[in-house]
Amino acid sequence: MKVLICADTKTAIQRAAGLMTACLREKPTAVFGLATGATMEPLYSEWIATARTEDLSFAHMRTFNLDEYVGLTATHPQSYHHYMHELLFSRVDIDPTNTHLPNGAAPDPATEAEAYEQAIRTAGGIDLQLLGIGHNGHIGFNEPTSSLCSRTRVKTLTQSTLEANAKHFDPGETPPRFAITMGIGTILEARACILLATGSAKADAVMRMIEGPLSAACPASALQLHPAATIILDPDAAARLHLRDYHQLVHPEGREPVLNSPICSRREAAR
Ligand code: F6R
Repeated sequence: MKVLICADTKTAIQRAAGLMTACLREKPTAVFGLATGATMEPLYSEWIATARTEDLSFAHMRTFNLDEYVGLTATHPQSYHHYMHELLFSRVDIDPTNTHLPNGAAPDPATEAEAYEQAIRTAGGIDLQLLGIGHNGHIGFNEPTSSLCSRTRVKTLTQSTLEANAKHFDPGETPPRFAITMGIGTILEARACILLATGSAKADAVMRMIEGPLSAACPASALQLHPAATIILDPDAAARLHLRDYHQLVHPEGREPVLNSPICSRREAAR
């Protein structure tokens, strides 16, 4: 696990965007696993801006999002389809047929989840998986006690996730209780992972992910098993790490982070 503690939130976002851009530059046909949520909003803007400065095209990349709410159509303003359209897909030259999210409105969500898992396999697997982390340690919508080898499936959301998400829905609207999410086993098969966490509300979950025991009680701790996971933090999200000084010694400010990934070239690794 590579832990990068950045000087501030802006730098953390820039570092994550820099790694996404490097992957796109090295492999224009890369398969990206994408996430949603408040943390990702500035990252998508930064990624678009960074790629533009290099004149990089998104036309050939393929994307698979982590999750979608069961019961929401793609046009629902709180659906992750809508989120991705607004924040990324409509702003770059990506081919819409290359973008994938689970269909939350599918008549049989369990069958939809299996088909989604198969579609990821058919695409050759995910090159770079982007992740956020929930206050309770979830990744995707793999809530605490999710099997560490789970595959894409329907999950019931915890009360804390429902409460965290409720603010996005209109008053009087009941947020969905279920979601289709990539499993932890699915996520761990990505060739490289980047998890971005910012803000003090994530400090406890971040500490449990990095230093806590490997446990289904903190699904993100499964990233301890991943051979190429890069965790990018701002100071507030890193505040509870006992080994903060060690991580800063290994990856001091100003040093260009590199992904330990087969998709990054030697040139990138030598920087
Ligand atoms: C959503 C997802 C979730 C979020 C997490 C953090 O696709 O994968 O795991 O990353 O809930 O969300 P924010 O950034 O809103 O705190």
